[in-house]
This record gives sequence, C-alpha cells and structure tokens, in this order.
Amino acid sequence: MSVEVSRGLENVIIKTTGLTYIDGINGILRYRGYDINDLVNYASYEELIHLMLYGELPNRQQLNQIKGIINESFEVPEQVISTIFSMPRNCDAIGMMETAFGILASIYDPKWNRATNKELAVQIIAKTATITANIYRAKEGLKPKIPEPSESYAESFLAATFGKKPTQEEIKAMDASLILYTDHEVPASTTAALVASSTLSDMYSCIVAALAALKGPLHGGAAEEAFKQFVEIGSVENADKWFEEKIIKGKSRLMGFGHRVYKTYDPRAKIFKTLAKSFAEKNENVKKYYEIAERIEKLGVDTFGSKHIYPNTDFYSGIVFYALGFPIYMFTSLFALSRVLGWLAHIIEYVEEQHRLIRPRALYIGPEKREFKPIELR
Ligand code: CMC
Repeated sequence: MSVEVSRGLENVIIKTTGLTYIDGINGILRYRGYDINDLVNYASYEELIHLMLYGELPNRQQLNQIKGIINESFEVPEQVISTIFSMPRNCDAIGMMETAFGILASIYDPKWNRATNKELAVQIIAKTATITANIYRAKEGLKPKIPEPSESYAESFLAATFGKKPTQEEIKAMDASLILYTDHEVPASTTAALVASSTLSDMYSCIVAALAALKGPLHGGAAEEAFKQFVEIGSVENADKWFEEKIIKGKSRLMGFGHRVYKTYDPRAKIFKTLAKSFAEKNENVKKYYEIAERIEKLGVDTFGSKHIYPNTDFYSGIVFYALGFPIYMFTSLFALSRVLGWLAHIIEYVEEQHRLIRPRALYIGPEKREFKPIELR
C-alpha cells in the first residue's frame, strides 16, 4: 500500500471555518467576510471580538456588553502578578506569558460549556492585556499595574503598560495592530491550540500550547528579526551595502519578506506601512527606521518580486510597535496579545461545531521485529 506523508501538514485541511478567508494570489484578507482594510478603518478591536466570537458585528448594546465584560475582567489572581514579578528581568517575554497562562489553567481549569464559552473567551482576552502589560513592567523594573476601564481595550492596555494616558494616534495604531494580527486561519500556533482543544483541555491550556508554537523564530519571531535588521543597518546610506553583503552575497533570508500563503504583497503589510509612515513624519528616530525599511523593501522587491516574495505583515509592524514605545523583546508578545482572539475563536468553532479528537498517524519505518538481548550480551 502506498501512503503519502504530508510533511509540515502542508495542504492538509484540518477544519472548516467561517472566520478568516485568505486569497494569497490577490492579497486579500477577510474576517467573517469583511475586508481587513474596512475593519481597520471603520471598526474597533471590541467590535472585532464580537464579530469573531459571535459571528456578526455588534449593535450598540452588544458592543457595550463586550466592553463591560472586558472592563470587569482585567483583574488576574495575585499569583499571576507575583510570579511575573519574581522572574529574572532578562526572562523571555513569551516564556513568561506561557507561565502566566499556566497559572490561570491551574487555578481556573474551566470546563467547556456552550452557555459560557464565548463570555469566558472575552474575559481571557481582558486578562491577556493585564499579563502582557505586566510582563513589560516587570522586565523594565516598574511596579505592577492592572489595566483600568476606559473607552477602548487598546487605551486600557497602553495606559497600563506605560503608566500614562496614550494619545489618540497611539490608541488608533494599537487598535489597528490588534485587528491586523487577530487571525490568520490555521498557522502553527492555531493548529497547536486546536490539537489541545480536541482533547477538551481547557482554554487557558490551549493558549499555552499556542504560545509554545508561536515562540519559535519561524512563526511569531519574525517582526523582531525584521526590526533587528533595520537596527543593524543603522542608516539609509548603509542599506544598499548591507543588502548586497547580507542578502545577495551572504544568502541570508530577508526577514519580513515571503509568505507560505501570500504570493503578492501581504495586505496587512500595506496598512502597517501607512501607520509607520505617519509616525515617521513626527519622530526622527522612527523616520530613520522607516526610510531604511522603505529602501530595503525596494531592493527586496526588485530582487525577489519575480519569485513572488514580497513584504509580509512583520516587515513594518515592528516600526509601529517601536513608535508606540515598545522594546523589541515585546514584539512577539504583542502578536500574541492580538492573536489570542483568533486562537479562542478557532477552538470554540472547533469544539462547538466540529469536534473530533485530533490523532494523526505516523508511518513506521524502523527495524523489523528483533530478538531482545539482556544488557550483559549487548
Ligand atoms: N528572503 C530570501 N529568499 C526567500 C525568502 C526571504 N524572506 N522567503 C523565501 N525565499 C526563497 C527561498 O530561499 C526559496 O528559494 P529557492 O527556491 O531558490 O530555494 C524560495 O523562496 C521558497 O522558499 P520556502 O522557504 O520554501 O517557502 P515557504 O513558503 O516555506 O516560505 C517563509 C515562507 C515565511 C518561511 C519564508 O518566506 C521566510 O523564511 N521568510 C522570512 C521569515 C518571515 O518573514 N516570516 C514571517 C512570515 S509571515 C507571519 C504571519 O503570517 O503570521
């Protein structure tokens, strides 16, 4: 019998979904039918939470309910905060996030229940803001701070992180970034969450599984790597030389370029570029990185465009995060902060509508049956 092994589960359809549609040829991304550009321009992250979990954009009353649950759910058990602040300051931020969610899984261990799953997901999203803000605060040697109720999730998160009221432009950029990273069908982290959910493990543990998969440099780490390139280049005058030495002669991969699904410009990258440009117009340091990125983009597209390799979402997102005041080590956590909605929406869709234990097979290619030899005879 001939059996085909799908390495990397490439082209394996693991579930159906009503959440996210990607057209990689034409560079289209939609959540529940709505174009990513319209959602960034006209919706808020809270509206997106309702859309993803409940299937429709909320009316005013439904939106207020979502905001109410968020504003009441920022508190986390004391053990989460004390553990985050007891860790050495040089600890990896995603590792700290895994630890925090592990504590929540130990304390709460909630059971799946159709009547409460979605509301629990909204509560978890609120707690993710608290965890993410306090990972930054612990690593920076600041005191713990629980996000306070405000007009928006993005505002509460930024205010708790930096301990000051953010500007409207910062809130809008944070909100856009939350929307842009919310979901991307079933990449490795979402698949890891689905595998855990298929055993009916609790939602917090599913997030630990997702975070473990996100942590790797082939998935969540690309925004950090892309931005580190711009720091290494240092000035726009050095961009061509760097590109020639590192990418052309050195054959290194250009980070923030290329995508398994998009064979054209990633639609999220275009939006992040616009946001980065608007910060660059007001801030000289951001401008420096923006100009380097723009030059590298031109060189990258000239070199790789014929192979359908273009900027992906991570190429410009780091410049936006940097402009908001985040250090590089937080970029992957900001991805997670946003993606937690996608993970939760996918596992709820899976458990409620199409549940089956995920248990693939492996093709055995080891030795035939062998005689056992006691240790003295080996
Ligand atoms: N720089 C230079 N060459 C590249 C790049 C790149 N960034 N990406 C792909 N290629 C080349 C690769 O060398 C190969 O060339 P050849 O056929 O001559 O050997 C060809 O393109 C196909 O590469 P592949 O690795 O088989 O293609 P893939 O579909 O597995 O690649 C990728 C997807 C994202 C792993 C890859 O493009 C990459 O490593 N990019 C850099 C890292 C990065 O930016 N990751 C973030 C991805 S977006 C995250 C998200 O959507 O959430």
